[in-house]
Amino acid sequence: MTLRSRLMATCYDSAMKKTEAKLLSPYRKKIIQPLEGTILEIGSGTGVNIPFYQNIDRLICSEPDEHMRKYLSQKIDAHEGFPIDLLDSHAEEIDVDDHSIDVVVATLVMCSVADQAQVLKEIKRVLKPGGTFVFLEHVCSHDRSVQKWQRRLTSTWSYLFDNCHLDRVTGDAIKAAGFEVEIEKIEFNFFSILNSWIVGKAAPS
Ligand SMILES: C[S@@+](CC[C@H](N)C(=O)[O-])C[C@H]1O[C@@H](n2cnc3c(N)ncnc32)[C@H](O)[C@@H]1O
Repeated sequence: MTLRSRLMATCYDSAMKKTEAKLLSPYRKKIIQPLEGTILEIGSGTGVNIPFYQNIDRLICSEPDEHMRKYLSQKIDAHEGFPIDLLDSHAEEIDVDDHSIDVVVATLVMCSVADQAQVLKEIKRVLKPGGTFVFLEHVCSHDRSVQKWQRRLTSTWSYLFDNCHLDRVTGDAIKAAGFEVEIEKIEFNFFSILNSWIVGKAAPS
């Protein structure tokens, strides 16, 4: 793990505080609070989503970065109400049984994974019949001039920010992987290269 990933983990909660409060928290709440059953969260980071879970039986947090896991472990230890297990799996190969999960959650993760198609295949493998995949992700802008900048900046951006890509067309990738999707497109006016987001749920078709 690099110095950059250590720095990102150390600064993540404080750097995101205003964006979380103003923009992201309502969407996290909207998708996470209604969830029930056994939940697998991929790329849990520092554990920002943990306070939003309410009526679940069990949460499995999966996070491959050891620095992120340090902060995540602290939140897990401080949490009460339902059991939380911690895995160090990459989402491309999750250490979870086939068809054992009611809901897979990904927030701000599909921009960073090495192989979106493989992650989506894994999500299908672990979901129970009738299970769902819920997500909140920043995506490639629909505005061509912004897209141009996203493509220009993505290699530097991903080098600096732990493989985060600005220009992924994640909604299309979820559909192409064989999910039926309900997607809401969101525009945030805070930083134009990160303005376009999607929030929604998907079920294997
Ligand atoms: C921007 S952070 C988001 C953290 C958290 N989900 C949130 O909503 O705040 C991206 C996270 O994805 C994780 N990540 C990167 N590549 C991954 C992969 N292949 N599988 C699973 N997680 C990955 C990173 O370690 C990091 O914790």
